[in-house]
Amino acid sequence: MTALTLSTAGAATLRADALVVGVAKGPKGPVVAAGAEAVDKAYDGKLAAVLDALGASGAEGETTKLPAPDGLKVPVVLAVGLGSVPEKDESYDEEALRRAAGAAARALHGTKKAAFALPLEDASAVTAVAEGALLGAYAFTAYQGGEKKAGKNGGPKQPLAEAVLLGAKPRDKGHKAAAERASVVATEVNIARDLINTPPNDLTPEAFAAVASATAKEHGIKVQVLDEKALTKGGYGGIMGVGKGSENPPRLVKIAYTHPDAEKHLAFVGKGITYDSGGISLKPAGHNETMKCDMSGAAAVFASVVAVAKLGLRVNVTGWLALAENMPSGSATRPGDVLRMYSGKTVEVLNTDAEGRLVLGDALTKASEENPDAIVDVATLTGAMVLALGNRTFGIMANDDAFRTSIHEIAEEVGEASWPMPLPADLRKGMESPTADIANMGERMGGGLVAGLFLQEFVGEGITWAHLDIAGPAFHEGAPYGYTPKGGTGSAVRTLVRLAERTATGDLG
Ligand code: BES
Ligand code: MN
Ligand code: ZN
Repeated sequence: MTALTLSTAGAATLRADALVVGVAKGPKGPVVAAGAEAVDKAYDGKLAAVLDALGASGAEGETTKLPAPDGLKVPVVLAVGLGSVPEKDESYDEEALRRAAGAAARALHGTKKAAFALPLEDASAVTAVAEGALLGAYAFTAYQGGEKKAGKNGGPKQPLAEAVLLGAKPRDKGHKAAAERASVVATEVNIARDLINTPPNDLTPEAFAAVASATAKEHGIKVQVLDEKALTKGGYGGIMGVGKGSENPPRLVKIAYTHPDAEKHLAFVGKGITYDSGGISLKPAGHNETMKCDMSGAAAVFASVVAVAKLGLRVNVTGWLALAENMPSGSATRPGDVLRMYSGKTVEVLNTDAEGRLVLGDALTKASEENPDAIVDVATLTGAMVLALGNRTFGIMANDDAFRTSIHEIAEEVGEASWPMPLPADLRKGMESPTADIANMGERMGGGLVAGLFLQEFVGEGITWAHLDIAGPAFHEGAPYGYTPKGGTGSAVRTLVRLAERTATGDLG
C-alpha cells in the first residue's frame, strides 16, 4: 500500500516526483485553493491564468498536469479540481477533498512520491485527503503482467508509492491521529477491494475463510470456522442448501474482536457468495460476469472488524461471514426443494438465485444467539435495489427507525451514499408457501424490500437490526471517478467502522 507521511515542509522546498495542488471553480474561472500559495508564487502568481489558458475550470475530478517552473523541487505539478469555491467562511466539503485527492492519486499511477498541497483546515480535512489519496492510489494488478516483473518490462503501472501531506503537522496530536485512522480505514477498504476483485476460482469459501482466519489471528481477533461437516451437523440448512451444488463447500466464519472495557456489542453479518451463478435458476449470460462480487458484504464485514481491532476501539464487534458458492449441478438445491434453516423454520426455495437470504438467514439466527446490542447485515442482495437506487447508493432497512436514521447519517458523514428504505408488512404475504413456513421469493415489485422482510424473520426477538443492500455500489463497472476504482469498491466498510466508533464512544444518535 501507498505510504502516508505528514510534513510541515513548504510546497516549494519538498523534493518529490509530483506536486498536487487544488483548483476550485470560481465565477470567473479557476481559482487556486489554499495550501498552494508557494506553488502559485513559483508561477509568478499566474497559476490560475495558466490553468485557465489550458482549459481547466476547477470542476470536480478534473486533473491537469503542468511542467513545474524553476523554484519548485518537483518536475510535475498536478492541478486537481475541487468543484465550486466554498461559500464565505466555509471550508471545502470533506467528500470534495477526498474525491480530489483520489482523482489526483489515480492520475499519478506509476509515480513514486507525490506531495499533496491541498487545503487542510483541520484534522477532518487531513483524514479526508489522506483517505482519498490512499483509496485513489489503489490498483488491482495481482493477475497482470504475466511473466514480467511488476513495474518493469511493460508490467502493470504500480500505485503511488508515497503520499506526503503538506501542511499536516506530524507533531499535532489531532493531525497524527487523523492520518493514522485514515491509513487504517483505507488499508482495510483496499483489502476488501482485493478480496472482491480476486477471481472466484481462487477465492473459494475455503480460501476466504483461510485468509480471514490468518489475518484475524494476527490482530488478536478470535476466529471460529464451521466447515461443511460442522454446518451439516449443526443444522445450517440455508448455508448448506446454497453451497451443496458446488465442488467448493461452504463455510461460516466467526471473527470476534473484544475490548476489556467494552460496554456494547455489535454483530456484523456479511453475505459471502464467492460466485453467484444463480444455481439451477441459472442467470443468463450478461448477468453473471461480475458475480464474483457477491461476497462484497462478507468482505466489508471482515475488513471492518480488522479495522476496529487495529484502532483498538472500546466496543465488542463480532463478524459473521456466510460463505458459499452458488452453482448448478446434480447435487444442487432445486426450485421446489424445502430447506430447514438453522432457526428451525422451513423455506421453500422457489428460485435458487435468491440465495443470499438463505445464507444470511442462518447467520442472523446464529448472531442473535449472543444477544448483541445491534446486528447490521451487509449484502449484495437484490437487483431490485439497484433498480431503485442506482449504482452508487445502498439501501438501508431496519426494524428500528432511529437506528436506520443513525446509519444513514453515519454513511453520509464518511462519504458513502445511502438511502433509508421501508419494510412494508403487506409484502410478507407474497412469500407465503403452501408447503413450508415461508418461500424465498415474493412479489417482484419491491423485491429489495421483500428480501429485507425475509431476513427480518431470522433476527432474534427484541434485537435492533439493520440491513444494508449494497448490490449497487459494491462493484463499479464504469470509468473510475474520485477515489472509486473499477471493480470492487469496499462499499460499507467506512460506514461500519464509524458505527463502531460511535458505539464505542456512546455517541449514537
Ligand atoms: N447476487 C444477486 C443480486 C445482485 C444483482 C447483486 C446485481 C449485484 C448486482 C442475488 O443473489 C440475486 O440473484 N437476486 C435475485 C433475487 C430474485 C431471484 C428474487 C435478483 O435480484 O434478481
Ligand atoms: Mn442470486
Ligand atoms: Zn447473490
